[in-house]
Amino acid sequence: MALYAGICLTVLGLTATIAAQADMNNSCKWKCLTFAQLWPGSFCMTFSSKQCNIPKHVDGWTIHGLWPRGKPFCNKSWSLTQEDIGDLQDDLLHYWPSLVKSSAFTFWTKEWSKHGTCATCADSMSCPHKYFSLALQLRSKLSIDAAFNAAGIKPSCNNSYTYEDLHSALSDLGTHVGLQCYYQEGRQILMQIKIPLSKDLSIGCNTPNEHFSRSFYEPCKNNAAIYFYPFTQHPHNPCP
Ligand SMILES: *[C@@H]1O[C@H](CO)[C@@H](O)[C@H](O)[C@H]1NC(C)=O
Ligand SMILES: *[C@@H]1O[C@H](CO)[C@@H](O)[C@H](O)[C@H]1NC(C)=O
Ligand SMILES: *[C@@H]1O[C@H](CO)[C@@H](O)[C@H](O)[C@H]1NC(C)=O
Repeated sequence: MALYAGICLTVLGLTATIAAQADMNNSCKWKCLTFAQLWPGSFCMTFSSKQCNIPKHVDGWTIHGLWPRGKPFCNKSWSLTQEDIGDLQDDLLHYWPSLVKSSAFTFWTKEWSKHGTCATCADSMSCPHKYFSLALQLRSKLSIDAAFNAAGIKPSCNNSYTYEDLHSALSDLGTHVGLQCYYQEGRQILMQIKIPLSKDLSIGCNTPNEHFSRSFYEPCKNNAAIYFYPFTQHPHNPCP
């Protein structure tokens, strides 16, 4: 448990860590990061009932990943170990769970290999403990749960929102916040939210918006209703 201490001590306290200490040596090839949070209430819709579940302790938006925008897999010889993130595991299980069959640790390992190893050029993310710790801090600082609560946006099977309702509720997260939807039976359903960050971890990033990575999701259309589904007993089909 003490292995990471000393070599990779995370500075506690939001302002200290989020302060502009990222990439002071200017060695990162990327300029922007995407912080992606997903909505478990609809995430399982793209899976069959046995493949996806919302763990009992999960009660809000969860982390999908913290992704430098650039080539992935920057150091294939640097793999994640349990010791790297020992003291963070409870929080990670809560806020960065796996909703599919594979274990949470497998999910974190994949995210670390593909994205985390490309973030290590920045002092704020120079090792696994810092990277995962920062993601947890960002989730609490850039809280979609809090933003939606403040705007009175509640999950519902029956009531939809306009794009503008949702986008303006998220105004503190920057103008280029990306809403991603899944389409089913003529409804567009909110699935994921991507927040662009600059290398210094400030909100927004001024390079042109990159294409959304190919997935089941597309940018939500701003001319049609958007549904924000609740957590239900049947996460693969929450609102039959
Ligand atoms: C890649 O990871 C290994 C193992 O952690 C490390 O020793 C090496 O310095 C890393 N290389 C780069 C370019 O970061
Ligand atoms: C940046 O430079 C400082 C001082 O030379 C060094 O201590 C630090 O390890 C460097 N950070 C990275 C991520 O290369
Ligand atoms: C949603 O609409 C259906 C069908 O009109 C109704 O049976 C159900 O009670 C409604 N649910 C809520 C939470 O209002």
